[in-house]
Amino acid sequence: MIRTERLDHSTDSVLRAGEVLRKGGLVALPTETVYGLGADARNGEAVARIYDVKGRPSFNPLIVHVARAEIGHLVEVTPLARDLMAAFWPGPLTLVLKLAPGHGLSSLVTAGLDTVALRMPDAELARAIIEAGGGAIAAPSANPSGALSPTTADHVLNGLDGKIDAVVDGGPCVVGLESTIVNATGQVPVVLRPGGIPIEAIPHATHAEGGPITAPGQLSSHYAPKAAIRLNATDAHPGEVLLGFGDIAGTETLSASGDLREAAARLFELLHRLDGQTEAIAVAPIPDRGLGRAINDRLTRAAAPRHSK
Ligand code: TXA
Ligand code: MG
Repeated sequence: MIRTERLDHSTDSVLRAGEVLRKGGLVALPTETVYGLGADARNGEAVARIYDVKGRPSFNPLIVHVARAEIGHLVEVTPLARDLMAAFWPGPLTLVLKLAPGHGLSSLVTAGLDTVALRMPDAELARAIIEAGGGAIAAPSANPSGALSPTTADHVLNGLDGKIDAVVDGGPCVVGLESTIVNATGQVPVVLRPGGIPIEAIPHATHAEGGPITAPGQLSSHYAPKAAIRLNATDAHPGEVLLGFGDIAGTETLSASGDLREAAARLFELLHRLDGQTEAIAVAPIPDRGLGRAINDRLTRAAAPRHSK
């Protein structure tokens, strides 16, 4: 257990929250939709802590929160994104866009994808904290996995007191429902998750694959390596490259000290790296507890027979 600081909406609190975020801490912040569990999106170990404290058994890509509409250093801004930002930012509309070269975001935030979901919250206090924290804050809802999304600081503390560094109390969230997520990489907006902005309000919006909206974090929003994956390997067979963990050292090693947080932070980066070098990756055993469950979930899916794309 750690002591969770309860901060108010003063300037001092905003600076304190920013300081905690910049040091890799976790701060729950009030957005207009729900309270988010924020971490510096450039710091892989801080992002790994989000999954750890939420007890999430899998890695879904997270939304990165920004304080300004200048996002060209993070993503390729399409004409469609420009229109949507002009109409809906700041506000509960999240845009999925292609990552720009040199974006600097942790590959755990994007779950290894070449796109990222960005949103600029309407709540001024949230934007001030994001700015103070470095300008790119990954934040899913600030609740344990499977629990209701929190719309007050008390809700956050009910679920996460003693597990996170701070919560900023900004009063109740006015929207109370997560943001609408739209893929804006193409010419028409494709809605991936319904939310705070009604679909009817978005000109020309269509649903993903023309069918029902896909559940968050499924299929198309998951990175799958091209190489075959073999799990629980203690050494590499001919033609394989070994991804190590703990005492089992590989060509690359997730964490030599057996630290699951470090392993989570490096997982996607190392899978990408090895995927480019070999057709077969053998992976050392990862303990199936805490973050290890999410790591194993990802690896198991990567090892499963492929669906045609
Ligand atoms: O209102 C909200 O959006 C709240 C508050 C805190 O801002 N945040 C939130 O974040 O709901 P989060 O990280 O839980 O949303 C994650 C969802 C994923 O499950 C996935 O559906 C979608 O965002 N997502 C994120 N990155 C994506 C990507 N690159 N491609 C497709 N979907 C993505
Ligand atoms: Mg949630």
